[in-house]
Amino acid sequence: MTLEQAQAEITALRTQIETANREYYINDAPSLSDDVYDGMMRRLVELEKQFPDLITPDSPTQKVGAPLESDFTKVRHSIPMLSLKDVRGEEELLDWEKTLRRHTALPDDFVVRYVCEPKIDGLSAAIVYENGVYARGITRGDGQVGEDVSANIKTIRSVPNRIHLDPVPQTFEARGEIYMLRSEFEKFNAKMAEEGKPLLANPRNGSSGSVRQKDPRMTATRPLSFSAYTLGAYDHVTIKTQMELLEALERAGLRVNSLRRICNGLDEVREFIAWFEKERANLDYATDGVVVKVDDFALQNELGYVGRNPRWACAFKFPPEEVVTMVKDINVNVGRTGVLTPMAYFEPVEVAGTTVSRATLSNIEQLQKKDVRVGDRVVIRKAGEIIPEVVRVLVEARTGSEQPYQVPEQCPACGSQTVMDGPRLMCENSACPAQLERLIEHFVGRDKMNIDRVGIELGKRFIAAGFVKDVADLFYLTKEQLLGLERMAEKSAQNVLDSIEAAKKPTLARLLFALGIPNIGEHTGELIAERFGTLEAIQKASLEEISSIHDVGKIAGTALRTWLDEPHNKALLEKLQAAGVEPVQEERKEADERFAGKSFVFTGTMSRDRRDLEAMVKDLGARVSGSVSKKTDYVVAGEAAGSKLDKARENKVTVLTEDEFMALIGSDGEKPEATTTPEPETEPVPVQGTLALDL
Ligand code: IVH
Repeated sequence: MTLEQAQAEITALRTQIETANREYYINDAPSLSDDVYDGMMRRLVELEKQFPDLITPDSPTQKVGAPLESDFTKVRHSIPMLSLKDVRGEEELLDWEKTLRRHTALPDDFVVRYVCEPKIDGLSAAIVYENGVYARGITRGDGQVGEDVSANIKTIRSVPNRIHLDPVPQTFEARGEIYMLRSEFEKFNAKMAEEGKPLLANPRNGSSGSVRQKDPRMTATRPLSFSAYTLGAYDHVTIKTQMELLEALERAGLRVNSLRRICNGLDEVREFIAWFEKERANLDYATDGVVVKVDDFALQNELGYVGRNPRWACAFKFPPEEVVTMVKDINVNVGRTGVLTPMAYFEPVEVAGTTVSRATLSNIEQLQKKDVRVGDRVVIRKAGEIIPEVVRVLVEARTGSEQPYQVPEQCPACGSQTVMDGPRLMCENSACPAQLERLIEHFVGRDKMNIDRVGIELGKRFIAAGFVKDVADLFYLTKEQLLGLERMAEKSAQNVLDSIEAAKKPTLARLLFALGIPNIGEHTGELIAERFGTLEAIQKASLEEISSIHDVGKIAGTALRTWLDEPHNKALLEKLQAAGVEPVQEERKEADERFAGKSFVFTGTMSRDRRDLEAMVKDLGARVSGSVSKKTDYVVAGEAAGSKLDKARENKVTVLTEDEFMALIGSDGEKPEATTTPEPETEPVPVQGTLALDL
């Protein structure tokens, strides 16, 4: 290879890697799989090693992690946040230990003690406690300089406001991974789908996107977790091993992975890896490997670092959960709001422990961008979600016989003209049978109209028989009609009619939700019902009035107003009323009385003016007091909260952060589930001495 050729390849690689970095870290929309990315990075390192003159200070090899282009304040890490050498397969693991042994004067028969920890696939962050109180949360950034996302990280429930070490360290910087539980991710996305809001791509992107939100209230709605695995700067704690370090983090009140294990010698490490590779499928969080660390700090110090990686640790990476398969068919699914979602059907393949035969392509724009064709070989990935996604097409494997996808001009279910609405393809025929099927399935749901005798199958039969052309028709079904259906006996017919009859008095909120209005989910429905009280009042309300409800906003407001103004929707509501569907009057909560009889104590430094916060709850009927007692209902604790916070904990008073408080008064006034000051699991053990460690 000539210098010129090397230069050309290096330039191309750098551009691709920088683009990928930007898409990954800034746009939260990764364009490459980790493997492809790692491969390009390895190639670049290799070329730069061969042609050291071509190394430039701005090469992606010269910095770890994300480029920094954002609005967050940049903060230099007290100690750089390093990364680990990736190790794939047994052989590389053996090599890694060999190198480690070469760098020390260990006798050949000395068995090195390691700690193995699951490698959670999230994003790393540093969380700084000053004098025991949460002070800052910083993203890793490029390893040297991160972003100050303190307000966002503070909303994470597993990040306590205070740590419980005695004596209290002046500085205690926990480092670890921010991630989302798979179950929480699914729950969150289901809720977003219900409300017609954009979904998170996967738990990992969801986490990084959430941590970098502009508005911490947004972050607070995202189900994030934090698990600590190392320390940055700290004092007044004596630690001699990695295991002791993890225990100190736990004593401090932080979450630490319970699947850590001491392994004597590499054989035990291999056993752990083999065990964990099976076990990880059962975990509620995504992992991509096992981190192996030398336990003994003295040995760690002796081993030191090579470049930005410690010699005393490595990341054993599992093969990626991506597989290649062939697309057999592409078609669109009609949703209840008329969105046509493209799906790719392929030869069944096993990925991440389950057999899959279809993947979502999100929307037509995505499909066109990825240019997926029938006959294409595609990379399928399954991260935390149930339905896998098509990562990309292996364009290089095309033979020419692949069929480009023709965007359907007609709805496959009803044949009416389709239209593009932003990135989505829509069927705008509200009488479309496929939409109606989905809508009935939604309408009868337990948390909506709760018509338990009508399910999706029966709904389809009603539509096919021509009995039901909209949801209101359900209330006009007659016994004769039902008895005319196959396998429908007298008794079942009566049960169906009874269950429909019983559904005629829903609450207003449930009715709103049940109607399947775009962007109106359960929560939004409740807020709107609470504000207006009756259907008539909602019908008369202006767009501004609806949109100005806290947490409803313009998008949902517009969707509702548009829906209400549609003549056939007006007719639908009249038809429902004529059938006797009458939302029951909900108890209207008097906003002023919401916190009547409740007492609040504010302590510590808040980001907002404390008097403003006090005025807010007073307006809602609460009392604000200066001292904490058993009778106190809530203590709102800001930064550097002291004795009042301790007193609150003693008396088991609910403690809120400022953001939780804002969420509380913005919401329906129920107590949040957990306080943010978890009790330490074990009594803090006094420790002394200081050990500066370069982690
Ligand atoms: S230790 C110098 N332990 O993996 C040691 N890292 O490149 C610093 N990770 O950026 C990291 N689980 O985001 C460590 N138990 C664990 C980990 C872990 C996940 C991530 C972390 C880091 C990357 C390693």
